[in-house]
Amino acid sequence: MADLKTRERIPAHVAFVMDGNGRWATQRGLPRTAGHREGIANVNPIANALRAHGSRYMTIYMFSTENWKRPTEEIDAIFELLVEWLRDTAPEMRSRGIAFRHLGVREPLPPALLAALDETCAEPVRADDLVLSLALNYGGRGEITDAIRKVIATSSDSSAIDEQAISAALYTAGMPDPDLLVRPGGETRLSNYLLWQAAYAELYFSQVLWPDFDERELDRALDEYAKRHRRFGGL
Ligand code: FPP
Repeated sequence: MADLKTRERIPAHVAFVMDGNGRWATQRGLPRTAGHREGIANVNPIANALRAHGSRYMTIYMFSTENWKRPTEEIDAIFELLVEWLRDTAPEMRSRGIAFRHLGVREPLPPALLAALDETCAEPVRADDLVLSLALNYGGRGEITDAIRKVIATSSDSSAIDEQAISAALYTAGMPDPDLLVRPGGETRLSNYLLWQAAYAELYFSQVLWPDFDERELDRALDEYAKRHRRFGGL
């Protein structure tokens, strides 16, 4: 297995889908919330490991605009866990070189969560930080629709609307596109995640459920990425 020094190609930006928390808990006879607790606790070690490997951006899909279809009790529990994590774990991560950013729509996220997010994301990004983006109340189609609206509102000339203008109006403005998109949990679909940005991302699907997706699994994904030949339409 390639190690930190010998692995030649490290993705600058890795996007993850936090998938499999509920099943992880159900398999152990635990309530789904226990899986979400375990799942959010796994963000810190994976972000640290990725930063140590030299990646600069990590994005994690934590709650989609479609996840409001889940039972209210589960949604409330997820938001409570998030507030707790932002309060108790994020400051320590921040002090270890991880900067936070929110990707998604603020409304109708609960005020306590928005306040915790604002506080966590307020600090400026330092030169050697890993930028951890939390995709929360995020949907790729909604993001593209919002971007087109913004671009049209500021441009009277439709011929001036180009791919750069749309990229700059996305929630991810200023960030490089993901090089590697990892979906643990056994599903092999994007589920409305980073639809524009993942145009040339390498996709990596794993059966391992997110709470069990540890540094060894991350190494597997990075090794696989290092072997891929990215052509971007060329030869
Ligand atoms: C996308 O697939 C998966 C996500 C958007 C992540 C969902 C994870 C949670 C709701 C738990 C997060 C927990 C915490 C504590 C932040 P999908 O399962 O929504 O879509 P699919 O039905 O197409 O697979």
